[in-house]
Amino acid sequence: DWTPDNVIADQVAAIKAQIGGARVICALSGGVDSAVAAALVQRAVGDQLTCVHVDHGLMRAGEVEQIETDFVASTGVRLIVRDEKERFLTALAGVSDPETKRKIIGREFIRVFEDAQRDIVAEAGEHGEEVKFLVQGTLYPDVVESGGGEGAANIKSHHNVGGLPDDLDFSLVEPLRTLFKDEVRAVGRELGVPEEIVSRQPFPGPGLGIRIVGEITAERLEILRRADAIAREELTKAGLDNEIWQCPVVLLADVRSVGVQGDGRTYGHPIVLRPVSSEDAMTADWTRLPYDVLSTISTRITNEVREVNRVVLDVTSKPPGTIEWE
Ligand code: XMP
Repeated sequence: DWTPDNVIADQVAAIKAQIGGARVICALSGGVDSAVAAALVQRAVGDQLTCVHVDHGLMRAGEVEQIETDFVASTGVRLIVRDEKERFLTALAGVSDPETKRKIIGREFIRVFEDAQRDIVAEAGEHGEEVKFLVQGTLYPDVVESGGGEGAANIKSHHNVGGLPDDLDFSLVEPLRTLFKDEVRAVGRELGVPEEIVSRQPFPGPGLGIRIVGEITAERLEILRRADAIAREELTKAGLDNEIWQCPVVLLADVRSVGVQGDGRTYGHPIVLRPVSSEDAMTADWTRLPYDVLSTISTRITNEVREVNRVVLDVTSKPPGTIEWE
């Protein structure tokens, strides 16, 4: 019988058999897969597991706290958060090209993770145990996809941040390899992973970095973070989370348009709402959101985020548009 309980029991036994008394590490991105994989491994081997979250400063409002506080409280996972916001901002300074952004974010991520790993290895060394294992949240569809077949053309370099290079000297622990996404969610709920993480919609590894069209700066990230938080809050309040695959909120940082507020002229930035419906992100349609919800989001963003004076709706399917703007 397939039940979350049975999966947990089987995987806990398998993980114990694989890892024994060794140390194991995991990169926590904030996404469902790495969180549930980590919670499973924690259930099996406790503090032999150390999780690392690389805070690249490109997360949405509240997400780092969700990992740092809620996830740790509910699972008991040992977590190291590396605050690397300045490092990523510096590395990304002056860069507008989307693929270059992805490459830089991926490169810096790996460097920080390797640093953290060295620290953990050094600490573990004193206790005489080796760190030989790395947890990955690989799902069944990922296994099938990478097991050959053409798949989709590589239109964007979708290297998963949280995805690590092949040449790291680790054995992989992949407790979700036989599961589909909805099964992973069921297992996560059973393990007590917070609902905000378990039901999280897809969010790209490079985060808000690829939702600012133009250069990434701390100020622009803050503008986008505030607009995004309003959109998410209103979509949730309207009960629309299950109807939407995801809703990127995009800042057109290099575009300005004229507006009017009170007695004055404004010259602000547009925010794009990109709600999409999809089965697997390979194709998508724009979601027909209720006008009153769109209206509330637009009014709130333009009232509450001073730098934004226009909210526009993306009504393009995929193809020809992609879900993200970069
Ligand atoms: P596109 O924009 O190609 O996105 O239609 C398809 C799905 O992939 C997500 N996405 C990414 N995920 N790293 C990721 O981990 C990336 O660089 C990346 N780019 C896009 C996107 O959010 C959507 O779910």
